[in-house]
Amino acid sequence: MKKIVVIGLGYLGATTAVALNKMGNRVIGIDPNPTKIATLSAGTVPFFEPGLDAALTEALATNEISFHSDYPQDAKDADIFLLCVGTPQAENTKAADLRYLESAIDQLSPFYGPTSVVVGKSTVPVGTATKLKARLAQNVEFGARLAWNPEFLREGNALFDSLSPDRIVIGTDDAVSERALEELYASLIESGTPFVKTDIATAELVKVAANSFLATKISFINAMAEISEQVGADAVQLAEAIGYDARIGNKFLRTGLGFGGGCLPKDIRAFQARAEELGLGESVRFLDSVEQINTRRRERVVEVAKATFGDIRNLQVTVLGAAFKPETDDIRDSPAIAVAELFSVHGSKVRVHDPKAVANVRAAHPHLAAFDELQRATEGSDLIVVGTDWFEYGLIDPIQLGTWVRSRVVIDGRNILPVAAWQKAGWRVVALGRSIVNDTASEFVFQ
Ligand code: UGA
Repeated sequence: MKKIVVIGLGYLGATTAVALNKMGNRVIGIDPNPTKIATLSAGTVPFFEPGLDAALTEALATNEISFHSDYPQDAKDADIFLLCVGTPQAENTKAADLRYLESAIDQLSPFYGPTSVVVGKSTVPVGTATKLKARLAQNVEFGARLAWNPEFLREGNALFDSLSPDRIVIGTDDAVSERALEELYASLIESGTPFVKTDIATAELVKVAANSFLATKISFINAMAEISEQVGADAVQLAEAIGYDARIGNKFLRTGLGFGGGCLPKDIRAFQARAEELGLGESVRFLDSVEQINTRRRERVVEVAKATFGDIRNLQVTVLGAAFKPETDDIRDSPAIAVAELFSVHGSKVRVHDPKAVANVRAAHPHLAAFDELQRATEGSDLIVVGTDWFEYGLIDPIQLGTWVRSRVVIDGRNILPVAAWQKAGWRVVALGRSIVNDTASEFVFQ
C-alpha cells in the first residue's frame, strides 16, 4: 500500500483520489478550499460526476482516505505527491497560468522525504516539469525527483476512465520515480492496459497533442458542416460515411455547436502560446483555425435566428442545456452558455434549461434565467435551441412542447432530435450542418 498525497481536489484530483484508494492505496487529499474539504469528508462530491458519490462513500469506509485544507503531519515522507491542480488560462494571454503548480511544489516541500516522488498530472506546457523540478530542488535536501503522468479522463466518465484507462503514459528521468509509477499502476499494466514509458517532455506533450487532435477532429467535421449548409448537404450523414473508414473512425465526429469545457479550449490556446515562445508558432497555426471554426458554430445559431425572425430583440429564446456536455454540471467555456450569452447581447430574452447545472449557471451568469423544469423554461418561447446533447432532450415530446411554446421553431445545435417527428408535430427544425436532413443518419452511433 502506497501513501499518496493528491494535491488539488477538482474534477481530476477528487476522481483520482477516490480511484487510487479503490486501487488499494492510502490517500491524503489536499485542497485549500475548506468547504470542498468538509463536503468531501462528509461523503459528498462537490460537483456532479456519475458514480463518484457512491465510490467516495465506499472509499471513506476504508479509513484509508482523508481530505485536508492544510497538510497533516501524516503527509510526511509520502511515496508520491500527485499534482492535480488547475492550469487555467492566464488573464489577457492564451498561455496557461502555472501559479497553482508552483505553490503546490512550495507547500509539499517540507513533507518530501528521502524516497518521495513528485508526479504531475495537470495539463501543462512542455518544459514545465523541468522548471518545477528546479524549484523543488531548491527547497528539498534529498534528491529532487519529478515525473509526469498525464491523465486522459473525460468528465462524465471520469471514474471509469481512471480505473480502466485506455493507456498509461509516464515520463521519468530517474529510476526511483519509474519504479514508483510502475508499482502504482502494476495491476492495470498486468491486465494489459497499454503502457508508454517515455521522457518527461514527451509525456507533457502527449496530453496537449491528444486534446489538440480531438479539438481538430471536431472542428474538421464542423468545417464540413459549414460547407454542407451552403451546398444543400447533410454533415451528419457525411460524418457517418467517412467514419466507417477505420482510419478515420466514428469517434469525435459529432457535428454541432462544437467543443467547450475546462480542457480542450484552454489547452489548444496554451499550446499555441507555448509554440510561439519556442519560435514554432507556425507548427500549430492550424489550431487558430480550429478555434475560429468552433466560435463560428456558436455565432451561426444567432444568424439562423436572425434569418428566421428578422429582429431578435425581445425574442423569447430557450437554450436547452448549459453544461458543456452531458453528464456533468460543468459550464466552463460551455457552447450552450456562449449561445445564450450571444442572444442576450442581441437583446433577446433568454432562459436556460439544464438537468444538473442550474446552480452553476445562477452563480456565474445571474442575468440568465435558469431552470431545471422544462415547462417553466419553455412556456411562451419563440425559439428553442438545443445547446447540450443531454440524452433526455432527444426524448422530448414535440407535440407536448408545441403546446407550451409561442412559436414552434427549434435549432438543433447538437443533432440529437428525431427531425421527422418534430416536423410532423408542426415544428420548423433547423439542424446545424444539415441543410437537408436524411433521417437514416440517426441510426448511426457517434461516440
Ligand atoms: C477532454 C478529453 O476528451 C479527455 O481525454 C481529457 O482528459 C480532458 O479533456 C482533460 O484534458 O482533462 P472533456 O473535457 O471531459 O475531456 O470533454 P470531451 O468529452 O473531450 O468533450 C469536449 C467537448 O467536445 C464537449 O463540449 C463536447 O460536446 C464536444 N464534442 C465532443 C463535440 O462537439 N463533438 C464530438 O464528436 C465530441
